[in-house]
Amino acid sequence: MSNELQEIDTNSAFTPFRGTGGLTADSVHVFAPATVANVVCGFDVLGFAVNEPGDEVVMRVTDKPGITISKITGDDGRLPLDPAKNTVSVSVQHYLDSIGRADIGLDIELHKKMPIGSGLGSSSASTVAGLYAIKTLMGDDRDPINLLPFAMKGEEMACGHGHADNVAPALLGGFVLIRSYEPLDVVRLPHPKDLWCAVVFPDVDVPTREARQIIRNKINMKDAVTQWGNIAGLVSGLFMQDIDLIGRSMKDVLVEPVRSMLIPDFYKMREIAMSSGAVSFGISGSGPSVFAFTRDETTAQTITQKLQQHLTGLKIGSNTYVSTINDAGPRVIG
Ligand code: HSE
Repeated sequence: MSNELQEIDTNSAFTPFRGTGGLTADSVHVFAPATVANVVCGFDVLGFAVNEPGDEVVMRVTDKPGITISKITGDDGRLPLDPAKNTVSVSVQHYLDSIGRADIGLDIELHKKMPIGSGLGSSSASTVAGLYAIKTLMGDDRDPINLLPFAMKGEEMACGHGHADNVAPALLGGFVLIRSYEPLDVVRLPHPKDLWCAVVFPDVDVPTREARQIIRNKINMKDAVTQWGNIAGLVSGLFMQDIDLIGRSMKDVLVEPVRSMLIPDFYKMREIAMSSGAVSFGISGSGPSVFAFTRDETTAQTITQKLQQHLTGLKIGSNTYVSTINDAGPRVIG
């Protein structure tokens, strides 16, 4: 394992748009990745992107000013086609307003490739795909971090709170720390290259809005000390490429004890994962997805299979994904 650190963008300054405002193409097709937010101990401040699943947006320039959404697939009819109510179009509209190009006409197709309300940053992946699509069409070559405030607007609309721990890693790729919300200060962290992530989505609905409402508002000092020790330990482990330290730091005494009640057989799933070689196990974002870090792909595959079998025994369907950490973030695929 190399001790060399990856590129770290600390608080890239938000820079004004300096493009011509002209369009570089008539259409673009973008993929943006799912994300694991919180990373167990870092509620609202840590997240990372995975290689799959992810959402896709096809954006086409139209003659008539304003945004339309002509198609959404993979959502079972749950997402609004009304551009005033859809997080993708609303975020893109904010972006266009910010660069003084509200006169542009756009049509959006959104292809959901992951379950909604899964804890995998479903709305963030869609929003980031939309923002990356318009950034590409506008020839906006600024650092993608400049899209973050617009993406956070989408998150606020989706669940009532504009947290950045899904949208920032979806946008920037890699492992991301939200050092501060006011002012917004985002740090891209290094991570061991050979850290694998096993994700299991048990097919039960846990809307983020509700999963946030059940969290305690007040915490005691003893728990706070435990939590910030673990967050510092996790970040140190990432810098030191020390997978044991990463694993033993991923403990959450604040949120998990409450949210685990929303997840079928959470503690049994933890036992299965840890006894099968996981480095750590916890809730992905607000759940119900769970994830485990492992040192290799085979262990990650074994864990997803065992957890899926366990859920099948409970008559709960599931989706599984195995991935390393995705450092690329969104990408143009057509
Ligand atoms: N930090 C957020 C939460 C992530 O746990 O509510 C889910 O969007």
